[in-house]
Amino acid sequence: MKETILVIGSNGQIGTELVTELRKIHGENHVIACDIRRPDYDIKNAGPFEFVNVLEKDILNNIFKKYKPTQVYLLAALLSATGEQNPKLAWDLNMNGLLNVLDLALIYKTHRVYWPSSIAAFGVNSPKVNTPQYCIMDPNTVYGISKLAGERWCEYYFQKYGLDVRSIRYPGLISWKAAPGGGTTDYAIHIFHDALKKASYTSFLSAQTQLPMMYMDDAIRGTIELMNAPAENISIRSSYNFAGVSFTPEVLAAEIRKHIPDFKLSYMKNDPRQAIANSWPQSIDDSQAQKDWNWKLEFDLARMTEDMLHNLKS
Ligand code: SER
Repeated sequence: MKETILVIGSNGQIGTELVTELRKIHGENHVIACDIRRPDYDIKNAGPFEFVNVLEKDILNNIFKKYKPTQVYLLAALLSATGEQNPKLAWDLNMNGLLNVLDLALIYKTHRVYWPSSIAAFGVNSPKVNTPQYCIMDPNTVYGISKLAGERWCEYYFQKYGLDVRSIRYPGLISWKAAPGGGTTDYAIHIFHDALKKASYTSFLSAQTQLPMMYMDDAIRGTIELMNAPAENISIRSSYNFAGVSFTPEVLAAEIRKHIPDFKLSYMKNDPRQAIANSWPQSIDDSQAQKDWNWKLEFDLARMTEDMLHNLKS
């Protein structure tokens, strides 16, 4: 069957790479990039693009009516750090954007919807090491609260209306093609840029702050694999744990020094993102994703570091 795929939030860190990958698989004209901002890269020239604000339901409705998408990826969101600067907007965008898309997917009989959750859905009382799929979840950022609530809505639409919604709790995502979007894990991207530019970086997270991270190539592949899995294999309709690789700024710096020996790392004090990071898991148990749709990580810390430096350099 020929798919018609909407990617809403196509200009962001994930959207930029997802659109390119989906267009390779399905053909350029079958993947419609949608964003509130004009794309400043090749997405526009490489296939259809529509201006969309997910909060404007009438305009969103027209896009669904025009394309009758078989799949929708909803990526538009405010992330953890940016969300704390504007909590009401973060809630509105992250929550009502999702509800608008879920409702329109039902009306226009979209076959599959993808919506990302995050490690931010966990909180201070969640187990920190090897955080299980099911445990106490008490997020304390508006981003995390919206992700946890969104997970519940996804499961609700599946159970109540049979909508095939799928989701992954992403760890921090590391990539070089598009800038990160205002998250707590962004240090792990900035560090590579500064390492190449000036062989030094000042981290806003402390030396020992361990967080789960993943290279974008793995995240995109995993997302598409989840969306391609047979519906009967999907046992989780809230959101799947996704582990990636866990490290601290100090460990990442040591890996970078294998390529840039004089790289120096220093640390800021009292950055508000530290408290957010402290409330998140240090590592994740993603055995359910491995079991249900055969998930396997490819990029470890060494491979990721090498690839980041190589691509940013060129
Ligand atoms: N990378 C995100 C953030 O830091 C977590 O999902 O906000």
